[in-house]
Amino acid sequence: MIIQSNYSLKHCNTFGVDQYAAAFGIIQSLDDLNQIRESDQPVLILGGGSNILLTKDIDALILKNELKGKSIVYEDDQDVFIQLKSGENWHECVTWAVEQGWGGIENLSLIPGTVGAAPIQNIGAYGAEIKDVLIELNAYDFDSKSEISFNHLKCMFGYRDSIFKNIKNKGKYFITSVLLKLSKHPIPNTKYADIERKLAEKNILHPTIKDVHEAVIEVRQYKLPDPAVIGNAGSFFKNPIITLHQYDQLKKINPDAAHYPVDSNHVKIPAGWLIDQAGWKGKSIGHVGCYEKQALVIINNGGASGDEIWKFAQGVQEDVMNKYGILIEPEINIW
Ligand code: EPU
Repeated sequence: MIIQSNYSLKHCNTFGVDQYAAAFGIIQSLDDLNQIRESDQPVLILGGGSNILLTKDIDALILKNELKGKSIVYEDDQDVFIQLKSGENWHECVTWAVEQGWGGIENLSLIPGTVGAAPIQNIGAYGAEIKDVLIELNAYDFDSKSEISFNHLKCMFGYRDSIFKNIKNKGKYFITSVLLKLSKHPIPNTKYADIERKLAEKNILHPTIKDVHEAVIEVRQYKLPDPAVIGNAGSFFKNPIITLHQYDQLKKINPDAAHYPVDSNHVKIPAGWLIDQAGWKGKSIGHVGCYEKQALVIINNGGASGDEIWKFAQGVQEDVMNKYGILIEPEINIW
């Protein structure tokens, strides 16, 4: 593996922020991972760069994941078990599965990033999450210098969360592949309002997974900016989970507060709705703005530094706290 020093990460993050890494290497095989020595500087792993905000130059060795490959491990009449190497592009894998008629990940179409990043934050959209189909994953353990397997339970998935987000595990594991179980007789999941609306608009009464795949792409393309055109990292914040008591307080301020049930004592509030209500939608300060069609997305209007984006986001966070008493936490990783 060739290690380059003082490497610009501008084209490695979807915010398009120009920060430098002290060292940068591309991982194409397990052998490349074996070459990394304990005495080397701290290690950070980069997939598609679609879920990070670089606020400064990074004094670490950045490893760009380019492990490639997708294969069928096992299949029967009902299901197919596919192994995807972690450096594959997630959306291309979804498209491949849909073309084969295998269902389970079509609602996760067009999510940017790599396969390896998907389980870390348990990617989710339109009523589906990767945890619903993930059987196990393999990860290279930098301590033992070997590949180990994590079954579904061991991944400890939660809403945009997994064991790999735990601070103790940062830089400890490099996810190498995932094993997904997809159905050969899929029942499309069309319950999410935006998808239902899109299918109705297209007069599709009995949707196939391909129809859902296309509907999701159209909805996302309408609501979310293309990072190739406008720098962004999708949802900047997670949807906060609050107690019913907090929800009652919120309803006093706004009786129409949007919410999703979580359990008997908690509800989830769309952060996009809170930010929108607080008056930020479509608003810009300097080079940074809040996207006009989805307030949860913070955008680089061109030329913004990572620090400027972070300051804007903190301003939004503080304002929502002052107006509604609710803490919205970043979904993306702040480096
Ligand atoms: N809303 C507003 N104003 C806005 C944005 C949203 O009022 O500017 C309201 C909507 O009207 C709706 C509710 O908030 O009632 C939810 O909005 P939406 O359906 O767009 O979904 P979200 O909760 O904002 C989540 C995910 C998205 C995912 C969508 C669809 C999180 C943090 N975000 O957004 O994921 O695509 O659901 O399933 O959970 C991502 O993670 O990068 C991402 C885009």
